[in-house]
Amino acid sequence: LSVLVLHGPNLNLLGQREPGIYGRVTLDEINRSLEQEGQALQVKISTLQSNHEGALVDAIHAAQGHHQGILINAGAYTHTSVALRDAIAAVNLPTVEVHLSNIYRREEFRYHSFIAPVAVGQISGFGPESYRLGLHALVHHLQQLPA
Ligand code: DQA
Repeated sequence: LSVLVLHGPNLNLLGQREPGIYGRVTLDEINRSLEQEGQALQVKISTLQSNHEGALVDAIHAAQGHHQGILINAGAYTHTSVALRDAIAAVNLPTVEVHLSNIYRREEFRYHSFIAPVAVGQISGFGPESYRLGLHALVHHLQQLPA
């Protein structure tokens, strides 16, 4: 199995960005722990961060034929991007949505996710652990699918 991990806008600044909300762990540290977790699960992990909506759309398209599932923290595009939602719907790769913060206990504009209706499920509020939990949930889901 191979999983594509996508990080959206501003997540390159993790560690320094609003640490009261997002904590002190950097994106590199998150990616390294996902790669370790992947080894334990015998799943190949590829990671990509972009601040550009179209680059994320391109990456979702390119995942077809290379990855069996997508783990995505779309950042603010979660709440704005029909294009990302449509890309996920188009490629038909099981996708799990994750957020570091609990988006339902913050500003109201974060309550709505365009990704959620096309995702297998969502994990929100556990900090970097959200990614690890999300990876486990995705791999479990992929292993349940008929071969
Ligand atoms: C986020 C939550 C979003 O509302 C926000 O725009 C982000 C990060 C999270 O991981 O908690 O950039 O996706």
